[in-house]
Amino acid sequence: MSLPTFIFDLDGVIASTEKFHYSAWRETCLSFGYDLTAEKNDYLKGISRTASLKLILGWSNTEISNEKFEEVLRDKNELYLNLLINLNSDDIILGVDTFIITAKEKNHKIALCSSSKNAKFILEKLDIIKLFDVIVDGNDVEKSKPNPEGFSLAAKLSNTNSENCVVFEDSEAGVSAANQIDMYTVGIGTSEKLNIANRVCENFKEIRLKDFKI
Ligand code: BG6
Ligand code: MG
Repeated sequence: MSLPTFIFDLDGVIASTEKFHYSAWRETCLSFGYDLTAEKNDYLKGISRTASLKLILGWSNTEISNEKFEEVLRDKNELYLNLLINLNSDDIILGVDTFIITAKEKNHKIALCSSSKNAKFILEKLDIIKLFDVIVDGNDVEKSKPNPEGFSLAAKLSNTNSENCVVFEDSEAGVSAANQIDMYTVGIGTSEKLNIANRVCENFKEIRLKDFKI
């Protein structure tokens, strides 16, 4: 069997940006009188901007026109991008960069599969975009996680069978997507929602490259 390809999610796995998504959504929701709790926000992890707003409108029993829908999405993204102004390599999640560099030295392919349309911008800001052989982001797919389209594309572009891919994800939607096409899934974090992954680790300090020798 060939070397596994490693596929990384971005928000919450590589970059500590989930807190900024939450702040921006919270402020956006308050503008139409809805208080987005951290528990509800957990359901937004991994899914697209559009899918997030649809869920929020359902929870808050809010109806808006298509025009307003697009306006709210733009506003949320503007708030989010403002929070990223000072983002830099200090915002890389502990240990993930070292893991990627070690894996590259051993000839593993490195891919990104993120639902974010801001993924390349963030990787540039973190100064790690060059580490990725393949990047699939929210601009490349029609159906975002939990649909496996993005992971299938990442595997195809990496010339790897999906069974030979290892996925690192912090969201239930992401783990579920990769599980559907028989990728080996590693949940990163402490959420019970990650228990559907093949393995769960609190962070990259618990993970060694030799764990994935086949
Ligand atoms: C995912 C995040 O990676 O990207 C979600 O987990 C976010 O919280 C989604 O909503 C879309 O991101 P963006 O940057 O395109 O709004
Ligand atoms: Mg994530």
